[in-house]
Amino acid sequence: NSPLRLGIAGLGTVGTGVVRIIRQKADLLAVRAGRPVTISAVSARTRDKDRGVSLADYAWEDDPVALARRTDVDVFVELMGGSDGPAKAATEAAIAAGKDVVTANKAMLAHHGQALALAAEKAGCVIRFEAAVAGGIPVIKALSEGLAGNEITRVMGVMNGTCNYILTRMQATGQGYNALFEEADKLGYLEADPNLDVGGIDAGHKLALLASIAFGCQVDFGAVALEGIQNVTIEDIRHAADMGYRIKLLGVAQMTGRGLEQRMSPCLVPDTSPLGQLEGGTNMVVLEGDSVEQIVLRGPGAGMGPTASAVMGDVMDIARGLRLSTFGQPATSLSRCKPASTATP
Ligand code: NDP
Ligand code: HSE
Repeated sequence: NSPLRLGIAGLGTVGTGVVRIIRQKADLLAVRAGRPVTISAVSARTRDKDRGVSLADYAWEDDPVALARRTDVDVFVELMGGSDGPAKAATEAAIAAGKDVVTANKAMLAHHGQALALAAEKAGCVIRFEAAVAGGIPVIKALSEGLAGNEITRVMGVMNGTCNYILTRMQATGQGYNALFEEADKLGYLEADPNLDVGGIDAGHKLALLASIAFGCQVDFGAVALEGIQNVTIEDIRHAADMGYRIKLLGVAQMTGRGLEQRMSPCLVPDTSPLGQLEGGTNMVVLEGDSVEQIVLRGPGAGMGPTASAVMGDVMDIARGLRLSTFGQPATSLSRCKPASTATP
């Protein structure tokens, strides 16, 4: 069977994780997909950088757009980040060239997901983004496939590992914000612009994507009411603990009589509850539907292995010939939902 040939743009935490999996598990992937999964070419900003993994077998492109257009690339894997700029330009180039796309880029999708999904559908391509929400947890698969027979009533959870790490470590150690921010950075959790994390914006991007899938609405990041964790103090955490609560950056999306409510903000949760017990960079997403009632997904929300695992889930779907709609239904059928509140960011 012919191989599925990848072009990978972005060789940082996630990109090198994907290269490692493909190099280390080539036989397993080939058996599971029924065809080899290979890398034709890669791209990053700096060519001469030791990335801890050999790239000698792959062609190099300085320009991710050129990578996206290569004739020996079937799937463009976008792992650079950034809502616009090269990530968006290369993704558009890939779709225009008829390539499928796999990305972990929630910022790009929260701002341009609808336009990219429409373009992909028109071109007969798929664009998949499991890694963009809750890292290693296959939450998009659960929502768009496993729960496809449900009317979803609510989606909520902790979706930013950096914030959860900082908040739980502040509670556990009594240390200040800055030291714990450094620790989160060392674990590879942080976005290139850490304000996206601590400002709640990254989690808001994820919530907007889940809300689109859950409620069949066009992604509306502007309608997410946002508040980050920058103003949460050690005193807040202590007072909450005294009352039997923990502070979590919690996202909630639900359809109300006033319209679609999307909220991402620090909340008090009982310290003995599953959300209250959630430690470190772990994420937890609660999905509620009329038939299933409630399911809870918990797992690593960031870092090399978990995020690369989610990218590979999408790659394997494509290798197996699954042509699933980006947002769980055709982009042309996503409605413009009335927002329940007007947003911040
Ligand atoms: P990194 O900052 O570690 O890596 C980014 C990579 O993109 C680097 O290799 C960089 O090149 C390359 N790059 C940046 N700009 C350009 C450009 N203009 N042209 C070519 N290459 C470029 O990011 P991550 O791996 O952490 O994140 C990648 C994506 O995955 C982002 O969208 C992020 O939001 C998402 N994500 C990350 C998670 C994580 O845990 N880290 C979890 C879930 C999603 P160079 O190395 O040469 O500088
Ligand atoms: N910066 C993000 C986080 C990475 O901390 O959750 C995963 O999306």
